[in-house]
Amino acid sequence: MEYATVESTYDMMHAALKDVVPEFELRYKAELAFEINQLKEKIGAVILGHNYMEPALYHSVPDFKGDSLELSRRAADTDKGTIVFCGVRFMAETAKILSPEKTVLIPSARAGCSLAASITGEDVRELKKQYPGVPVVTYINCYADVKAETDICCTSSNAAAVVESLNSDTVIFLPDEYLAQNVARETGRHIIFPVKDPRQASPEETNLQYTMIGWRGRCEVHEKFTVEDITNVRKQFPDVVVLAHPECSPEVVEASDYSGSTSAMIKFVKDTKAPRYLLLTECSMGDNIIAENPEKDMLRLCSVRCPHMNEITLEQTRDALKFNRYEVDVPEEIRVKAKRAVDRMIQIS
Ligand code: 13P
Ligand code: SF4
Repeated sequence: MEYATVESTYDMMHAALKDVVPEFELRYKAELAFEINQLKEKIGAVILGHNYMEPALYHSVPDFKGDSLELSRRAADTDKGTIVFCGVRFMAETAKILSPEKTVLIPSARAGCSLAASITGEDVRELKKQYPGVPVVTYINCYADVKAETDICCTSSNAAAVVESLNSDTVIFLPDEYLAQNVARETGRHIIFPVKDPRQASPEETNLQYTMIGWRGRCEVHEKFTVEDITNVRKQFPDVVVLAHPECSPEVVEASDYSGSTSAMIKFVKDTKAPRYLLLTECSMGDNIIAENPEKDMLRLCSVRCPHMNEITLEQTRDALKFNRYEVDVPEEIRVKAKRAVDRMIQIS
């Protein structure tokens, strides 16, 4: 078995990461990864790892890796009693929503998300009062109380398909302003952002034909990228292929060559032959791609790391298994309602 000893764990990690992680770090991290894999086996746990996990963790301990949609599916399917979610809190909550009988652990209690923090269940109830009968789609990057008020969830890989599946002239789409604008463009819809005082509403807001109603939440990582970044890199490297996550602004997405979920971007790089790529997303993912595609050149603007994903380390993952922490719970009444919205999404994806 590849991870049977510290030495074989190191060999596996070294083969994938020799150009990405410094040697002295790799030795130490291989010891941690070995310990984690032993504990995982003993406890009967499964580790799910989001594509944004740091390279040494990503390439050693997860049983399954992927984007939010793939990991939600895995969380629903696993037969293990404990799920350790190496990702942020809303992802671990989704696992608990789908598998209430399982123990769901998140290695850091501080792994939040600026999008999830931008909206509450109460905000959604207010919007539903303002736009009665209009179906509510929420991006999976929100907490359980928001999902509970929702008709259907979506992720970055199925957002447009989810909106179209509703066959409704008007849709409320929460909470990511940029993802909503990107989906509006893709589905040929017109988007408005509600104001608290109806007297300030624009004429567009009174005409609900073919509209999407958005919310001003943003990803603190993806909002940083600009069209100027792309222009500057293209000037220097005219053959660069630019990929942007749909949480980037619509202008950035439009100026890019490809936009998709984290896993869709990984697949795109793997399947295309360009010599160099610029990835407008969380920086660890660039390292994770390079580890698997060493012949390709990944250009970097700077180290744009999600502070929340960054909370999840190998040390914290080991301690999660060792001390059974931090357990994620969702009140049953909220969980049942939220599950309907997540199940509906999984069914149509
Ligand atoms: P994906 O579903 O594309 O993996 O996105 C998750 C996320 O948090 C992006 O910032
Ligand atoms: Fe949230 Fe952005 Fe971090 Fe993803 S990258 S977890 S959307 S803050």
